[in-house]
Amino acid sequence: MAARVGIFDSGVGGLTVVAALHRSQPSLEITYIADTGFFPYGGRDPSEVADRARVLAEMLLERGQDALVVACNTASSAALERLRDEFPLPIVGMEPPLKPAVEASTSGVVAVLATPGTAAGERMARLNERFGGETQVFILPMPGLADLVEDGEVAGERVEAMLREALAEPLAEGLDALALGCTHYGFLRPVLSRLLPDDVRVIDAAEPVARRTRTVLGELGFDLDASGESREVLCYATGDPARLEATITGLRRSGADLPTLQIGRPVA
Ligand code: DGL
Repeated sequence: MAARVGIFDSGVGGLTVVAALHRSQPSLEITYIADTGFFPYGGRDPSEVADRARVLAEMLLERGQDALVVACNTASSAALERLRDEFPLPIVGMEPPLKPAVEASTSGVVAVLATPGTAAGERMARLNERFGGETQVFILPMPGLADLVEDGEVAGERVEAMLREALAEPLAEGLDALALGCTHYGFLRPVLSRLLPDDVRVIDAAEPVARRTRTVLGELGFDLDASGESREVLCYATGDPARLEATITGLRRSGADLPTLQIGRPVA
């Protein structure tokens, strides 16, 4: 039997994690919910995000899952411990890849792009305290950036201006590693590689989270088969599914490598 993995985010961002997991395990039964009815999470109160995270976890569990992935830094920051206490299955969460960025940096200057919620959260403070060390870490809250991605706007003047302004100081200080602390930002890799000097590494957490999910499934006893037959990803939105589909079409057109998605009716 194929392992069933339920994954959620506030919108299209978590599809960067879905894509990484599907690439390595195409036969997994993946169900994805984009909480587009409540997008964005980044500016909301953490307790509100935690309540949504619980609702989404319940929706996924109703469909039967072996493991859950919170493919959202903001929701992981606000709710991961609580979800793990409340739900009796393995739950993989995300955190901004500050540690790998610090490890990759030789200049001693790194930056983390994140939503305001993640940037101000305790989890980020803990990460910085634990792994920042001597490194100069710029934590850059990016209000509105995930919103542009959610609208399919992953290139162009508005996105570039926002990134240029945020990264000006870190670049002037010698930035050489940039951590993407929001799953939506994975879709900005092409624009980032145009804007940043070649020696700046861009690090996101999609691959490590996919790897961790495979480990968890292995521990549950699933026989993982990288060459299994590719399965479509079931994809639901709590908002308008036509809008989600249009965004996904736009992202694919901009070069995003996403698996085949079967976009279902809206869920309440
Ligand atoms: N994709 C989400 C994250 O990783 C947040 C986007 C939002 O809803 O603000 O934090």
